[in-house]
Amino acid sequence: MATIRVSLAGEDTDRSYDVACGRGILAGIGQRLAACGAARAVIITDEAVADLHARRAADSLAAAGIALELLTVPSGEPSKSVAVAAGLWDDFARLAVDRATHVVAVGGGVVGDLAGFVAATFARGLPLWHVATTLVAQVDSAIGGKTGINLAGGKNLVGAFWQPRGVIADIETLETLPEREFVSGLAEVVKYGMILDAAFFEWLEEHAAALAARQGDLLAAAVERSAALKAHVVERDEREITGLRAVLNYGHTFGHAYETAAGYGVLLHGEAVAIGMARAARLAAILDRLPEEVVGRQDRLLGRMGLPSEAPQGLAFAPDNLLAIMARDKKTVGGRLRFVLPSRIGQVELVPDVDPALVTQALLGS
Ligand SMILES: NC(=O)c1ccc[n+]([C@@H]2O[C@H](COP(=O)([O-])OP(=O)(O)OC[C@H]3O[C@@H](n4cnc5c(N)ncnc54)[C@H](O)[C@@H]3O)[C@@H](O)[C@H]2O)c1
Ligand SMILES: [Zn+2]
Repeated sequence: MATIRVSLAGEDTDRSYDVACGRGILAGIGQRLAACGAARAVIITDEAVADLHARRAADSLAAAGIALELLTVPSGEPSKSVAVAAGLWDDFARLAVDRATHVVAVGGGVVGDLAGFVAATFARGLPLWHVATTLVAQVDSAIGGKTGINLAGGKNLVGAFWQPRGVIADIETLETLPEREFVSGLAEVVKYGMILDAAFFEWLEEHAAALAARQGDLLAAAVERSAALKAHVVERDEREITGLRAVLNYGHTFGHAYETAAGYGVLLHGEAVAIGMARAARLAAILDRLPEEVVGRQDRLLGRMGLPSEAPQGLAFAPDNLLAIMARDKKTVGGRLRFVLPSRIGQVELVPDVDPALVTQALLGS
């Protein structure tokens, strides 16, 4: 098992926590919470994860003498809603949950964001744990304290920064993940190599096929390195103030445009990010910021992992429509297009004021 420390200074308390990463470690969650003095916990999970993994977490907590409730929400993005959050607040009130009750989110990013937001807001904040059961959650959403829900007007519009007490990334839980969900998560792994770590990118190139086949030890190593890179960024820019955390948005401005244009649920987030990274690299090459050769290298790595670098045929992705969506992106300032673009493998820069004509060229080029 590996432990990655997320070091966060607090005004009067140390808010640092560990991301524990390894095989079969879910069974130890009871001891972990007991060691933190927890006497009571509420598990929040979704319908798919409840039987597969959450019950094992419940058994472990019960065996450690922790009084326990288990609440289940429907699987999928629609659960990140005001209605589902309100339902959980009501459940918490009915169960007389108080500040000594630990909230344990068992699931992917949806459960983590939702349960995290409810934990952040109920009784002005409850201790939170993430048991991350998707690749996306293990390398991204469970680390860093962003929680939130969606409104009709946009994704993640309501939320709070709320750091967990600990994160458990049990690699074994990834074995039950549907293939498309798993592969989609690999896009964020490639992203970490591209934005921060050239040696990791090369390692991914070497092991792409084995990773795509979920080979245990390699997968654990990929999750550990990705989690460590995310932790490092979060430590240095916890609340997205210095701009450093923005590097994590590589591929995401283009990606969100494809995700939105395709229509809800057509492209998975990671698939859209893969297409977005491919477009961002092309834009960097057009701007003479990146050698063409690197564009091809990234495309090939994405391809070997089973990820797209082109938008799927048959869907209408008119550049004007994509540009209009990007101009509305919440990370856009004053309608001006800015992008996180690579300057070489392992390094990105924030590039402001990009000419829309060149963006169109990047959208059309192959
Ligand atoms: N907070 C952040 O910093 C952050 C970062 C990235 C993404 N997110 C959010 O994360 C969400 C996406 O997360 P996700 O990709 O994990 O999706 P998800 O939570 O919807 O999980 C994907 C699907 O897999 C199922 N599932 C989960 N674990 C499983 C397992 N081990 N075996 C079988 N099935 C399993 C779920 O029920 C769901 O149907 C989005 O809402 C996104 O906004 C947040
Ligand atoms: Zn992402």
